[in-house]
Amino acid sequence: MNKMSKQEENTKENSMEKIVSLCKRRGFIFQGSEIFGGLAGTYDWGHFGVALKNNIKQSWWKKFVDSRKDMYGMDAAIIMNPKVWEVSGHVSGFSDPTPEGKQFNVMFKTQVGAGDEATVSYLRPETAQGMFVNFKNTVDAFHPKLPFGMAQIGKAFRNEIAPRDFIFRQREFEQMEIEYFVKGEEWEKYFEYWKEEMLLWMEEVGIDMNKVHELEVGDGDRAHYSSRTIDFEFDYSFGRKELFGLAYRTDFDLKNHKLDYIDEEGGGKIVPHVIEPTFGVDRAVLALLLSAYTEDEKEGEVRGYLKFKPSIAPVICAVSPLLKNKPELVEYANTKVYAPLKALFGRIAWDDNGNIGKRYRRQDEIGTPFCIVVDFDTLTDDTVTVRDRDTGVQDRVKVENLEKYLKEKI
Ligand code: GAP
Repeated sequence: MNKMSKQEENTKENSMEKIVSLCKRRGFIFQGSEIFGGLAGTYDWGHFGVALKNNIKQSWWKKFVDSRKDMYGMDAAIIMNPKVWEVSGHVSGFSDPTPEGKQFNVMFKTQVGAGDEATVSYLRPETAQGMFVNFKNTVDAFHPKLPFGMAQIGKAFRNEIAPRDFIFRQREFEQMEIEYFVKGEEWEKYFEYWKEEMLLWMEEVGIDMNKVHELEVGDGDRAHYSSRTIDFEFDYSFGRKELFGLAYRTDFDLKNHKLDYIDEEGGGKIVPHVIEPTFGVDRAVLALLLSAYTEDEKEGEVRGYLKFKPSIAPVICAVSPLLKNKPELVEYANTKVYAPLKALFGRIAWDDNGNIGKRYRRQDEIGTPFCIVVDFDTLTDDTVTVRDRDTGVQDRVKVENLEKYLKEKI
């Protein structure tokens, strides 16, 4: 019943091709080491890709760290003592089957130090362990009461056997993870709580919630540390696959690291249990690109554009002089509109390339919600045109009101 028609399938595949090509053309994401033929499973991020990623990470940090009292940020080293990975179960258990059916450990090995002194270690395959090994440091420094959490954003590395589907499965990627420490008997309550929080954030950044589905991961399919996992899956154009995850890691990690906690409210020495909401930054980007990509017809032409929310769009607004060979327009646009907005918002672009129609198309593709044009009327009445990306509707706004106008929209 759910089978897609051939035409729907083609359109879906097409949308992925269009997104990959848009990402390259407009400076979001490039193949890693492209001029040397690439390196499978790696991608390089251009100016607008970095901006998009930063906005996603900032929105996450704001919601889960800055606006809470019970969360402590971390930025741990990527290379850790190899004992961490023995104790965590990754050396023995973090494997995938090869096409020949052999188990292959997907951690990237690396050498630390030189000559006889050298030891083998690994690039971290999850950011989580950097938080567990700093559990005691965090408790000693901040004296938090249970429940409390640690949060970290950073790179993770997996020598994936078959990297594929653009940035979906890479060998180097980025995670945003929370380890939330609770009393063992309260894990179910907080598991439900974090499930809702994760859904709220997805909606807030603009992921199409009709394409998000919860999957209860069955016994035998969960990671070695988890007693319950929910995968949030997303309908990518190449199928329904994992987006983010929520795991109940029990007291597995703290126990293995021989760490505990003194419950000053009468519980004595206990080992807290862990609820772990985990988010892949790159998969968030991919889900957002697929959610935002829209096609409509404008002036008899098909227009493909990214309908990003202003809060995560790489550029909030582009400023243009109507004609770039009229110094009085350029001067006004630059000094009275672009420079002050740039100083206030940062994510403001100057665009005077080609005619206005071309500039609009380009900004639509980047996902810029507003385009401001300085024209000859501006010179006499200090008003500019503000064009809305989605509707194409143009407002005439006083230059002195632009800050307020944009602030209300973002
Ligand atoms: N600390 C738990 C953990 O690492 P995971 O499900 O293996 O759990 C967490 O990874 C998230 O990292 C995934 O939900 C996904 O968003 C992202 N992720 C995992 N492997 C990835 C890969 N090869 N490429 C891109 N993102 C990946």
